[in-house]
Amino acid sequence: MDTTNIPTHIAIIMDGNGRWAKQRGLPRTDGHRAGTETARAVVTRCRELGVKHLTLYTFSKENWSRPKDEVSTLFKLLTTFLTKEEASLKKQGIRLKVLGEIDDMPMAVRQVLKHVMRQTKNCTDMTLNLALNYSGRDEILRAAKALAAKGIAADDITEEAFADELWTAGQPDPDLIIRTSGELRLSNYLLFQCAYSEFYFTDIYWPDFSPEELEKAIAELGNRQRRFGKTGEQVS
Ligand code: IPE
Ligand code: IPE
Ligand code: MG
Repeated sequence: MDTTNIPTHIAIIMDGNGRWAKQRGLPRTDGHRAGTETARAVVTRCRELGVKHLTLYTFSKENWSRPKDEVSTLFKLLTTFLTKEEASLKKQGIRLKVLGEIDDMPMAVRQVLKHVMRQTKNCTDMTLNLALNYSGRDEILRAAKALAAKGIAADDITEEAFADELWTAGQPDPDLIIRTSGELRLSNYLLFQCAYSEFYFTDIYWPDFSPEELEKAIAELGNRQRRFGKTGEQVS
């Protein structure tokens, strides 16, 4: 594939695990398990392609309202995934970050997250952000509160100052947001950061999404002209 135009930051809404499982007459949790394998492959491919920031929507604040069993399975799968992948992440030079409040998560998850973040904090090849217990609106409110708490003057509240209070502080906005499973919505994802992101939607359920599908999305982005408010002539 053409690797001259690799997006710096890709964000993914990994959706469709439940429907993937249902289609096969399996419990939803089997879909989540299969989705974990996809995540592993996509992380590796992104890092190989030279993507510098990858953000995976792993668990939204709204997902707390799912059946208790499903929520606990999701956290168990995450714990297993991180435990298994720790060495590999380190070897690949991937730094783990969490977008969301860690302290509201079950103890076992919290521990493994903190451990892997510590272990990978000096990795520089790629940052893997897991949006966990995440809500875009909540993130914006949190930033507003943080600025207020600092007693910052109204005139000093710039876009940069605001962005510095988001979970993504210091990272560029996503160039590309991918959502699988055919749903055409953002579901409270990266609301501040997506101002000029390109969107890519596919009907494929997350467990069937592959590194090849990822490359398709990247190639499609290469065919688009990002104008940022300018005219096409100004940009080309
Ligand atoms: C995405 O798959 C995983 C999470 C939201 C945690 P879903 O579980 O939402 O799958 P569908 O949308 O029900 O098919
Ligand atoms: C968004 O998917 C959250 C994650 C992928 C973790 P959902 O499946 O929860 O989104 P809605 O509820 O269909 O909008
Ligand atoms: Mg869903």
